[in-house]
Amino acid sequence: MKKSLLQKFLIASIFTGICTTNALAEHSFKLAYALSKDSHYGVAAHALEEKLDEIAPKEFKVEHFANSTLGGEREVIEGIQLGTIDAAIVSTGAVLNFVPQVGVFDIPFLFRDLQHARKVLDGKIGQDLLKEFEQRNIIALAWGEQGFRHLTNNKRAVKTPEDAKGLKIRTTENDVHIQAFKALGILATPMAWPEVAPALQQGTVDGQENPISVIVSMKLNQIQKYLSLTGHVYSPALVLFSPSFYNNLTPENQEKLKEATKVAVVAMRKYVDEVEASGVKTLKEAGMNVTEDVNRAAFAKIVKGIYPDYYKRYSKELIDSIANTE
Ligand code: PAF
Repeated sequence: MKKSLLQKFLIASIFTGICTTNALAEHSFKLAYALSKDSHYGVAAHALEEKLDEIAPKEFKVEHFANSTLGGEREVIEGIQLGTIDAAIVSTGAVLNFVPQVGVFDIPFLFRDLQHARKVLDGKIGQDLLKEFEQRNIIALAWGEQGFRHLTNNKRAVKTPEDAKGLKIRTTENDVHIQAFKALGILATPMAWPEVAPALQQGTVDGQENPISVIVSMKLNQIQKYLSLTGHVYSPALVLFSPSFYNNLTPENQEKLKEATKVAVVAMRKYVDEVEASGVKTLKEAGMNVTEDVNRAAFAKIVKGIYPDYYKRYSKELIDSIANTE
């Protein structure tokens, strides 16, 4: 019998080892993320892949969709719910539109530092919240992170809330953030991430806010002149899976995926630690005008004025127990 070209190729591949065990993996899954392969998301995605290659080479194959190639984060989360996207690494930016309780972690000036945030996310409050996702047809396996968000813009150096007043700033589609920006007199303009670079270049908005991890890995210094270390809000990230993918795995494979996800978030936090230590220097060297001595207390004072609204939404008890976690 005459063999087709494809059959010949497959046979040859198996014999020559071109076709790795991984390429024959049982569960190939699409992993979407908004940032580049060398960002904290990309590093986490590769750590996940490497761990799966080590512990389950025949079972999994990861297909990377970096740089928002599958859409903005809101669309990606919808894809996770529908089962058209298997997995994603996202910020909480758009998540509260799906799992409203998550918004409590988006309250500005709530976390003191990275250690505080990690303690809460890894503790009972954070872990209980991960379970809420299932009600919304999303599997959330772990909290990752981006770091603390800072303001960048093309108009002026921002040191005080007065300096920030009137700036048109792109925000995520997150009304907990938007409420705080409005209190500061900032013209908050929610926008999906893939639209941000053109909007900054065309001057549709004056600036944006994101952690150093994003500013460095996406080279925002090329399109933004001023960086102010406002550190106004901690930015958690999440590793999500679609129930239609995850629930079809055997319990053993689900455990392997959980194990690999843990490794991924450790890699993500390590990247954030490193970039938080070196990123400002990198950005200054790249020509960015950096305001380090921001009057954070003045920003915090204004935002604390709207905490009663957050208490109504999430309960004072929960917010206080997060703030008081040592
Ligand atoms: O600003 C955002 O939308 C998010 O922080 C980003 C950059 C997409 C990373 O998740």
